[in-house]
Amino acid sequence: MKSPIFAANWKMHHGPSDATTFMRSFLAHSPRRSDRTVLIFPPALSVAAVVASLHERQDVLVGVQNIHWEDKGAFTGEVSAGIARDAGARVALVGHSERRHVFGETDEETALKCAAAARAGLTPMLCVGELLSEREAGETAAVVLRQLHAGLSRLEPGQLTSLAIAYEPVWAIGTGKTATPDDAATVHAVLRKALRELAGERGAKVPILYGGSVNRGNVSELLAARDVDGVLVGGASLDATGWSAIVGS
Ligand code: PGA
Repeated sequence: MKSPIFAANWKMHHGPSDATTFMRSFLAHSPRRSDRTVLIFPPALSVAAVVASLHERQDVLVGVQNIHWEDKGAFTGEVSAGIARDAGARVALVGHSERRHVFGETDEETALKCAAAARAGLTPMLCVGELLSEREAGETAAVVLRQLHAGLSRLEPGQLTSLAIAYEPVWAIGTGKTATPDDAATVHAVLRKALRELAGERGAKVPILYGGSVNRGNVSELLAARDVDGVLVGGASLDATGWSAIVGS
């Protein structure tokens, strides 16, 4: 029996007031379940509000969508992993497709950010995924393996098992086009093999989530696919009732 991870990436939505209202409704509709983990990635300024709303709900974890790679310093506008951890975050998304393709984040930066997260006691969730042109050129495996190896390259061997991977094909994010369960399983198997080669059987247990236009209608079949350990959901996670339904699937 799998025990899936349901992760919500709110992107630049839900300030502290909205986040509090969302969490009140979500928690009322979603009783604690021991067979799944829920993870919320609010905007950084809403992390404290989500954490404050959780009270006794240790089954729900909070993360940040991005961190800076330095621990502190003159980096106006940035948030360090340590600050995120102090605010109650336990996980950091690294290398989300919008960070890479809208903000120009490089593989080297993802490596520095994964290392910074691990240093501060945050679990890095490294996002990988190919562009449509790369898929059409048959380069999907090569691209995700390059991103995986680069992103993890600065972690110590002992840190390679305290992480998560999110496979998010860029062409599926926010487009309504989802990878088929078979497509997802194929890429997840490539990633699983690489993680096993990097860190043995414990590496093979690193959770691999699928993301890209996941919704109520397709979440069950994606979670049933081999090697899919959870889902990372953007648009369909923004409404508390819809998110409760996804988490309850
Ligand atoms: P989407 O976004 O579910 O809206 O496609 C997923 C993500 O960007 O993490």
